[in-house]
Amino acid sequence: MRIVLLGGAGYLGSAASHHLVSRGHHVTVVDGLIYNRGDDPARLLPATATFVPGDLRDPALLARTAEGADVVVHLGGIVGEPASRLDEQLAVELNYASPMIAAEAACAARVGHYVFFSSCSVYGMHEGTVDEDTEPNPLGIYARTKVLAERRLPDVLGDDTALTSLRLATVHGSSPRQRLDSVVNAMASRAAATGRIPLNGGSQRRPLVHVGDVARVLAGVVERRLAGAWNVGSDRENFTIGEIAATVADVVPGAVIDRGPEQDEADARDYRVSFARLQRALPGACSTSLNDGAREIADLVLTGHITDPGKAQYDNHRGLIAAFTAGKVGRLGNPDCARYGAEYEAAWGER
Ligand SMILES: NC(=O)c1ccc[n+]([C@@H]2O[C@H](COP(=O)([O-])OP(=O)(O)OC[C@H]3O[C@@H](n4cnc5c(N)ncnc54)[C@H](O)[C@@H]3O)[C@@H](O)[C@H]2O)c1
Repeated sequence: MRIVLLGGAGYLGSAASHHLVSRGHHVTVVDGLIYNRGDDPARLLPATATFVPGDLRDPALLARTAEGADVVVHLGGIVGEPASRLDEQLAVELNYASPMIAAEAACAARVGHYVFFSSCSVYGMHEGTVDEDTEPNPLGIYARTKVLAERRLPDVLGDDTALTSLRLATVHGSSPRQRLDSVVNAMASRAAATGRIPLNGGSQRRPLVHVGDVARVLAGVVERRLAGAWNVGSDRENFTIGEIAATVADVVPGAVIDRGPEQDEADARDYRVSFARLQRALPGACSTSLNDGAREIADLVLTGHITDPGKAQYDNHRGLIAAFTAGKVGRLGNPDCARYGAEYEAAWGER
């Protein structure tokens, strides 16, 4: 199949591109490398993948790349609440307008399948276990952009382009374009580098999934054209942040947990997620454990592949601030972004 990965040079996309190529697909990656890290796409992506530099808010570019594709996958945008708060309008352009503009292009090019990377963050805070039928409860800008895109994409795609929304658990593990800013990767890299695991409170629950499993799920939904919303992760991998710290301490010899008071007001997400739907459709697709992912990250540091995990290049929030300051990324305000920005305001303006 001819698969276009929008934002495919990032943490998930670079891992997915290798897996999709290994399964015989032709992959085109469109990415603006917005984090200003000096990434070389030739080192991140498989040799047979086509790399197209560009901005995922550019309708003409998206129309060109959708032409002749079997599947368009949108995994660009800003990840997480802290980075999204840096500039709400920018977050709306990258996380809501961009997937909508890409959907318009996919529909016009008669692409049969569109896959949108969403997040379990759409559930916010919930008692009990949430599944795909649970009403979303977005707690911040990031989750609001994902919820609105999931709701509005079917209107733009129409009946001839199937839509899949992948609501990912928090991802861990190693990838060609390494990130160390999500909970497992941050704890494991820090534990390996310093022997300490800072933990403030830690009662909130986070479902987890390994980056390699996300790539396998993407291949599965593309090859079987599984439409609809899917929580991506495993029922066995719903942990509190305290339990994650304890596992990391077990995995990294000699590492100790530094306990402090609960401080996570900026990120109040707390939910237990059911992944039963995915397990029925793609049994065993998400079978890599927290232990394995944490060990993988710790090994990157312990073997010297990563010498300073504290560098901004591994952290999207700091990377975005650097890119923003350097003028490498900013608001575009083109007519499409303005139109979708107004939709976002209309949907969430009263909050
Ligand atoms: N990593 C996680 O834990 C996680 C969890 C849930 C959902 N997700 C979702 O998965 C997707 C991918 O996440 P990731 O961790 O790979 O992020 P990432 O930041 O590593 O990758 C995103 C890529 O998109 C590119 N990009 C963003 N906006 C762009 C624009 N306007 N023009 C050109 N390129 C642009 C960036 O350069 C980057 O390479 C995101 O949609 C994210 O919301 C990720």
